[in-house]
Formats: sequence, C-alpha cells, structure tokens
Amino acid sequence: MSAITRRGLFGVGAATAGAAVAGAGALAVGGLPASGAGASAATWTRPDVVPFRGSHQAGIATPVQDRMHTVAFDLSTSDRAAVVRLFKAWTDAANRMTAGQEVGEGAIPALEESPPDDTGEALGLPATRLTLTLGIGPGFFESEGADRFGLRSQRPEALIELPRFAGDKLDPLRTGGDLVVQACADDPQIAVHAIRNLVRIAFGTATVRWSQLGFGKTSSTTPNEMTPRNLFGFKDGTENIGAADTDLLAQHVWVDAAKDGSPSWLDGGTFMVARRIAMRIETWDRTSLGEQEQLIGRTKQSGAPLGSSQERDKVHIEALPPASHVRLVHPDSNDGHHILRRGYSFVDGSDGLGRLDAGLFFIAFCRDPRTQYVPMQRKIASQELLAEYLVHTGSGLWAVPPGVGEGGYWAQSLLEA
Ligand code: HEM
Repeated sequence: MSAITRRGLFGVGAATAGAAVAGAGALAVGGLPASGAGASAATWTRPDVVPFRGSHQAGIATPVQDRMHTVAFDLSTSDRAAVVRLFKAWTDAANRMTAGQEVGEGAIPALEESPPDDTGEALGLPATRLTLTLGIGPGFFESEGADRFGLRSQRPEALIELPRFAGDKLDPLRTGGDLVVQACADDPQIAVHAIRNLVRIAFGTATVRWSQLGFGKTSSTTPNEMTPRNLFGFKDGTENIGAADTDLLAQHVWVDAAKDGSPSWLDGGTFMVARRIAMRIETWDRTSLGEQEQLIGRTKQSGAPLGSSQERDKVHIEALPPASHVRLVHPDSNDGHHILRRGYSFVDGSDGLGRLDAGLFFIAFCRDPRTQYVPMQRKIASQELLAEYLVHTGSGLWAVPPGVGEGGYWAQSLLEA
C-alpha cells in the first residue's frame, strides 16, 4: 500500500506524491483530487484514498475495509442554519480526512494559544481507504410532534420507525439517533480519529448518542477475494451484492426517487439499517459442528450450501433445513429481494460473568427497508433456530443522502429542499 501521509503530502513528499498521480488526472490544490462526481477512482489513483465526492456516498459500494467506528448523534438545536453550518464543516473535514489530510489548520497550529483543529493521532498515517457515510434518522424530521427544521414534508415514507421484532432486547442507549456517521478504514486509529474529529466539530450542535467499534468485516463485497468469517466461524458474505455489481446496486440499493415515490433529495441515496446483535458465543461453542451447519445452512469449512461441495455453488433453498438462516434470508424466500450487507464483528470486553460481550454489528443498505429488510428480519426473528443464539441489543434506520458533488456539502439536497 502507498504510504503517502498527511504531513508528507505537504512536505518533502509533496512533489513525489503529485508526480505519482499527475499523469492520471487533474489535481486541485494541496494534492486533493479535482472534486465532483467526475473525480472518481479513474482519476485518482492513490490506493489508500477512496474519493469522498461522487454521485453516491462512499462506504456503501466501496469494497469493505477492515475496521469500523459508527456513531449516532442527537441534534441539540432547532435552527436549520446551525445544521447547515455543521454539515458544511463536517464535509470540509471529511473531504480532508478521507484524503489523508489534517482537519482545518491541522494538528500543530501556528498559534500555541488555541486548541488544534485536528486532534493529531492520525499524524503520519496514510488514509487507509477511510470512508465517511452520513445518514439522517426519523427524529431529524419530527421529534415529539414538532417539525424541527421545517422539513417534515421531506421525510421519506420508507424512513419508518422499525417495528419491534420477536426477541428484541433493545437498549435505548444503543438505539436510534437523529444522525449517523459510519467511518470505515483499514486502520482502526484512522476510523476513530475521523469520528473523534467530527464529534469535536459538532460540539454545541449535536451530541453523541452511542458509538460502536467493529473489526473483521463480516461481509465481503469483493467476491474475488477470500470470504471473511464471522464470530461463529462461518464464511459471511458469500452471497452479497458485489461492490462492482452496478445492476444489483441499481435494483436493490440506490433510491430512484421518481420510481420509488421518494422525495427528490434522496435520489441516488439509500437506507442504512444497523443492528447490534449480541452472539451467545459460549453456548454456540458447545454446539456440535453438525448442528451449527444445520442452523446456518452452509458447511463451516468450505462455506458450500449444505448438499453442495463448493462455496459458490448455487443455493437451492429447498435443499436446506427449513429453519436455517440461509434458507430464510435467501432472495428466493424473499420475493427476489437482496440487501447489501456491510457489517463488522465486535467484542466489547466481557460482561462481568465471564461471558464475552461479542457479536455482529449488522449493517445493511437497501432501497426500501419496508419491503427488503423488515420482512426478512421479521421472518428470521420468529422462525430461524439461530435466533436462540442471538440477542438484538441496538438498532437504527437512517436515510442516506446521495453523494456530495463539487462545491456541495453533505445532505445539501435535503437542507435546501
Ligand atoms: C449474528 C447474526 C448473523 C449471522 C451469524 C449471520 C450469518 C450468515 C452466514 C454465515 C451467511 C452465509 C454466507 C453468505 O452468503 O454470506 C449469511 C447470509 C446472509 N445473511 Fe446473515 N447472519 C446474521 C444476521 C443476519 C441478519 C440480521 C440478516 C437480515 C435481516 C441477514 C441476512 C443475510 C442474507 C441476505 C444472506 C445471504 C443469503 C443468500 O443470498 O444466500 N443475516 N448470514
């Protein structure tokens, strides 16, 4: 991986870095790519940088990075102008951090008297494919009956309050949020630095409701690479929407406002579902291999569907146990619906009784949660036998605005609607 770092871009390394990419496309000042939807990977070849700007937000169809830090915020203002200021400041910071640069005036400002704009722990580190993805929750549009920012009429109908599913044990302190930001990177320090700096910028306008760290991606979106394994030891992401699968993305992930009857600001956006799913690891570890495979519907070693020999063999749902996970969530059991899974494992220490507080921080993107995620979750919560090993402890649904164009800011189409 290229190790172009924040300081290096402006110091001795600047000339080299510039030369390395100059042939590939136009660069704006400071080593950032010329922005806008056209500033795609095609014109920006630093392998550690995922372009922030584009027609869709990064961090959705981006090949999944190794680490995640997701944070939910509550807004503490009812002033739309304050939200616009926040989103503009966040956009500037996100644009810089995803390019491996420091926030604002940097970590070492000229004046010793003021606190640095950047908290500094990412100094010297490359961007490691950092992406930052913003979502807007139901509470943004309406809270306790109040039209908070005069945008109630812009709430997409698909941005529902998720129903209570069988077995849910949701902790209110791990659930919901007016806003969400998903940070993904190949280095945890980079993801944590990004969230910390966004939290700092939000001071006075938005407060942290909860945040979750994740490691070991549990769903690949890169079918040609080895499929990762989740904490139950099974390959996860064999059947997922691939990052390059534009047809499936168009069909199942990106909102088409005209066709979907959605407000136009969400055109090219999507919906993000997050579920913090605690996994009863110790109980699972006492379950026989045969039973584990019956519960999932795939073999543990190769990941092949039960009754087949290869991981990528076609799934025939009728050949799988009726209450197995894969049979119940497969598109053939769900009117052809797919979702894009992008979750991470977590281990938040242990619970004081010697049990690991571990699980899957499930993240999925879909075009309409009412027809894609909700029926699937309802079904597995009440029918799959795997549910005995799982407890959903956190939850959220957010509308994810489209990407940020040149000179634009996050959620501009909504805030200027
Ligand atoms: C801790 C909880 C979960 C575990 C351990 C788990 C595990 C797995 C495994 C091992 C696979 C097979 C490999 C693959 O095709 O990716 C799979 C597939 C899948 N899972 Fe899950 N999963 C969990 C939660 C969920 C939830 C909450 C949903 C959605 C409501 C979901 C939806 C799917 C879908 C859509 C597939 C692909 C099915 C196919 O197309 O064949 N999973 N999961």
